[in-house]
Amino acid sequence: MATPQTHLYDTALLDRFARVTPQTRLLDLGYYDPAGALWAAEHGAAVTALRPSIDLIVELDLAARHRRVRVDARLATSLGSSDWGSFDAAFLIAPFFLGNTPVRNAIDLVSQALTPAGTLLYQAHRRHGADTFMKYARERFERVDQVGIGTHQCRLYQATGPIPATASAATTDPIEHVLTVRQTSIRLQLGAGVFGARGIDPGTTFLLQTAEIPAGVSVLDLGCGAGAIGIHLASEDRRRRVVMTDVSQAAVELASANAARNNLDRVRVLVSDGFAAIARERFEVILSNLPAHRGPVDDPSLAEGLIRDAAAHLNEDGNAWFVVNRSRGIELPAARAFRHVEIAAQNARYKVVRCASPRPTRSTRHG
Ligand SMILES: C[S@@+](CC[C@H](N)C(=O)[O-])C[C@H]1O[C@@H](n2cnc3c(N)ncnc32)[C@H](O)[C@@H]1O
Repeated sequence: MATPQTHLYDTALLDRFARVTPQTRLLDLGYYDPAGALWAAEHGAAVTALRPSIDLIVELDLAARHRRVRVDARLATSLGSSDWGSFDAAFLIAPFFLGNTPVRNAIDLVSQALTPAGTLLYQAHRRHGADTFMKYARERFERVDQVGIGTHQCRLYQATGPIPATASAATTDPIEHVLTVRQTSIRLQLGAGVFGARGIDPGTTFLLQTAEIPAGVSVLDLGCGAGAIGIHLASEDRRRRVVMTDVSQAAVELASANAARNNLDRVRVLVSDGFAAIARERFEVILSNLPAHRGPVDDPSLAEGLIRDAAAHLNEDGNAWFVVNRSRGIELPAARAFRHVEIAAQNARYKVVRCASPRPTRSTRHG
């Protein structure tokens, strides 16, 4: 799926303050922007870049090939213990838009990854994230200083003297959240940089309250996050064949753990960018609390692409149910892909759109 590139780094700040040589082993956690990893690779550093989802790996890989540099891009948000204490430097743009947990996890990770003389350079996007960073960085580093201010008032901080977090440092929210809809209750752990880290999304609950899902059908939870939708529907009727997918590895790991927590051993949970990993499958029901942002950037094309592709993976007599913020206009893209589109329910914040009777796509028309 085509996605716009996100630019968060002010590389002029890196030019002024980052000390990188061909001997430097650098860990890049600039998740949503390849610029830091590319900058370091172009200055000769051996760069390991951790990314939480496949699309971000692909974006980084393509950009690195284009610039003819090498980056070791890994689909991961943590490092094995064999990598601890082995990096000379780290770049971090905290994903402030995901909440505090990913910032804390990233700082814990960097404190383990760096050598004792290693340096963390952190760029806060405008004013966002600076306070959270300072709070956690001061727990994990002996010294934290602001070193520069760049365009759009972004700030660059330097942290030295890592105090490694213990291996047992929490990476997930240990609290269990309970979701009850139509007398079925499920238990979910949230957190670890996955959507809805601070609580079950009210849009998700509204979708589950609204959608009418027959017993025994095949169900796709598209963009499953921590798994609330798929796990609820599988728990409500164990004869349903439930598949859950998300582009984020962290989400898939959390959703799998949550399925096990609810004693569901038959749901399938897969990493998939849109329908890429389930290209040949069709479902009687598709549900999605549609993604609205790519990283911090509002991106309606994400939801529109998923709606379009859902039509090609829905049975002719099936239903797709989408929940979005009430101000989002998804009806028009939905009407291009489905003959029947209706607002099934709306409240002050959300609307649930039901789509049926998929229009033939080029492949179904001819094949
Ligand atoms: C609004 S969240 C909903 C999460 C979960 N279903 C819930 O209700 O809490 C949207 C989810 O879609 C995922 N996502 C974004 N782009 C995607 C893509 N191209 N393919 C699959 N999942 C995607 C995000 O990682 C995120 O978990």
